[in-house]
Amino acid sequence: MGQVFDGILKRRSIRKYKNQEIPQDKLKKVLEAANWAPSNGNSQPWRFIVTKGEYVDKVCNVFYNWAKDYIPNAPYIPKEQVLGMLKYAENFGGAPVHIIVTHEIFEDEMKTKEALMAASAAIQNLCLAAWEEGLGTVWIGGYVLHAEDTREILQLSENQEIAGIIPIGYPDENPVPPERIDLNQKVEWLGF
Ligand SMILES: Cc1cc2nc3c(=O)[nH]c(=O)nc-3n(C[C@H](O)[C@H](O)[C@H](O)COP(=O)(O)O)c2cc1C
Repeated sequence: MGQVFDGILKRRSIRKYKNQEIPQDKLKKVLEAANWAPSNGNSQPWRFIVTKGEYVDKVCNVFYNWAKDYIPNAPYIPKEQVLGMLKYAENFGGAPVHIIVTHEIFEDEMKTKEALMAASAAIQNLCLAAWEEGLGTVWIGGYVLHAEDTREILQLSENQEIAGIIPIGYPDENPVPPERIDLNQKVEWLGF
C-alpha cells in the first residue's frame, strides 16, 4: 500500500490528547504540507493561525460556553453520551496547540466558495501530514468558527473566515474507525 493511501485510511479524528509539547519543526512540517494544497488559479487563499496557551484556552471557552447548554438539549445526542461530550467540549480533548485555517472572502460568492474549497484541501493535507508525524488532529466546524468572540480572540480581519479549527497534539486514544458508507452507494460510473 502506498504511504499516502495508508495515511488516508489510518488518520482518525482524535478527541483526547497527551499533555506534551509539540516540537516546532513538526508544526512547520504540517504547515508546509497544508501550504502545498491545490487552489483555484494557485491563489492560495488560506492563512494559518497557530495558537497555544491563553489563545487556545479562550477559544475553548467560547465553544464550551455555547456547548454546555447546547449538548444536553440536542435531541439527536443520546443521553448516555452527554457527559463525555461535555468533557470533550471543555478543551477539545486537551490539544496543546490549535491551527486555525482561514480563507479569504470575496464579493464574488463563487470565488469565496472556491477559497473555502482550497482551504479545505489545505486542512486535509495538514491532517494527513500530522498523522505521518505521529500527531493527532480533529477538524472543528460549526458554531465556534463563526462566533464573534472567536474572531476577536484570533484578531481576524473583515475579509477572513475560518474554514476549520484544528486542535493538534500527541494522541491519547486510538479510536475505532467510524464506518464508511459502501463505495458502491456513492459512485456513479457514466460512459464506462
Ligand atoms: C467540515 C467538518 C467539520 C467537523 N466538525 C467537527 C466538530 O465540530 N467536532 C468534532 O469533534 N469533529 C468534527 N469533525 C470530524 C468528524 O466528526 C469526523 O471526521 C468523522 O466523524 C469521521 O471520523 P474520522 O475523521 O476519524 O474518519 C468535522 C469534520 C469535518 C470535515
